[in-house]
Amino acid sequence: MIRIAIDGPSGGGKSTLAKRISKETGIIYVDTGALYRTVGYYVRGKGIAKDDNQGVISCLPDISIELVFRDGHQTVLLNGKDLGDKIREPEISMYASAVSAVPEVREFLLETQRRIARENSVVMDGRDIGTVILPDADVKIFLSASNEERARRRCAELRAKGIEASYEEVLADMNERDANDKNRAVAPAIAAPDAVHLDNSGLSLDETYEAAMKIIKSKAKNKLPKKSKSKMLVHKRSMTGFYRFMWHIFHGFFKFIFNSKIYGAENEPDADYGAMLVCSNHISATDPIAISLSLHRHQACFMAKKELFKIPLFAQLIRMLGAFPVDRKKSDVSAVRHTISILEAGGWAAMFPQGTRHPGEDPRKTSLKSGAGMVCAHTGADVLPVYISTKNATHRLFRRKNIIIGKPIKFEEFGYEKGKAGEYARISAEIFDRVCTLGEEWEKANNAK
Ligand code: DC
Repeated sequence: MIRIAIDGPSGGGKSTLAKRISKETGIIYVDTGALYRTVGYYVRGKGIAKDDNQGVISCLPDISIELVFRDGHQTVLLNGKDLGDKIREPEISMYASAVSAVPEVREFLLETQRRIARENSVVMDGRDIGTVILPDADVKIFLSASNEERARRRCAELRAKGIEASYEEVLADMNERDANDKNRAVAPAIAAPDAVHLDNSGLSLDETYEAAMKIIKSKAKNKLPKKSKSKMLVHKRSMTGFYRFMWHIFHGFFKFIFNSKIYGAENEPDADYGAMLVCSNHISATDPIAISLSLHRHQACFMAKKELFKIPLFAQLIRMLGAFPVDRKKSDVSAVRHTISILEAGGWAAMFPQGTRHPGEDPRKTSLKSGAGMVCAHTGADVLPVYISTKNATHRLFRRKNIIIGKPIKFEEFGYEKGKAGEYARISAEIFDRVCTLGEEWEKANNAK
């Protein structure tokens, strides 16, 4: 996991830079200013003056803010509603700056920001990321530019969104906002002592990005997700549009063919749940399809044997569905690495701790691979146990599959001790023990034969 903090005054290009870093590395971009803007929007909507601190504080119990990431894009929900660009209007900027000086508001938004960075690799921009939110971020950049240049950029940004504002107005607002943000008593917008200063006046977007990447690589090169050389897709959250489309087409069809029944579907977390490793027993070649079609809210990416990627069209299709090749004749490091990068991007991946298929055997007696434990230890991802049972099978075209979905296992439950020998194998074994227990309890409850 890597955490990159980008702080600095408004209009310095923080969001443009952070978005580019996110796009190039696959890690999530978190725009924390949007949270303050959302609170500002609510307060203004209630007709409360922006300097009425008590009025602002009295709104907080009625506000629920959620950060949701879909395909890597952040949406802030205010009491369940997406406000879109309404929070970008100049008046809301002034409200955001005012409410951000209220300590209770900062406290109110603190955990939302920290939680997202605990669960994901992030590039987060704001004013106090390096000083307060993530004081032990791997990289801290303080980005700024001259006042005039920042005002020019902000004008262009607003115009692109169809919001009209004069340069003079924007410059005046910006100066006022900078002064508020810098001089407030709590979490003032200043550089952390260990931040690297980057002044991008006169630098192009590409040059700013190159300069930032140089800083990032000098501080935490080995923590950056490895970019895959092939055209593998790193799916961030939930389902891609194409996957959703295919899922709906095949869901009913395969359910009919496999005659599969899903138990514990309610245990699958909501679409905005962070990284998850789905682990299951492995009895047949169709298990990945059965698992994928049993998950209603998430796309779990699977490894598939590399021979399948030689079949024209089929290869493209499974790639688009998020499958990626593994060479089963060797211990394929790049496939494991790709699984890690999916999880680091906050996505879902699936692995079979048994490695290969073990049809008809007692799963408790099969040997295990340590890959699942290794992936978990590297990413801190939670695990969703799934058990596939053909017991109580009635025959239709194929043997029936019962897919049993368990409750997610929090990574902390594994008590991982970094540097201790045998930890990967131990975690794999614990995961698989939970998978087997899930199956045994289901079979007992269903009198399975
Ligand atoms: O980055 P922005 O312009 O969207 O931020 C809006 C306001 O929110 C800004 O005036 C300062 C405040 N803010 C803050 O105090 N701390 C943050 N981490 C992010 C924004």
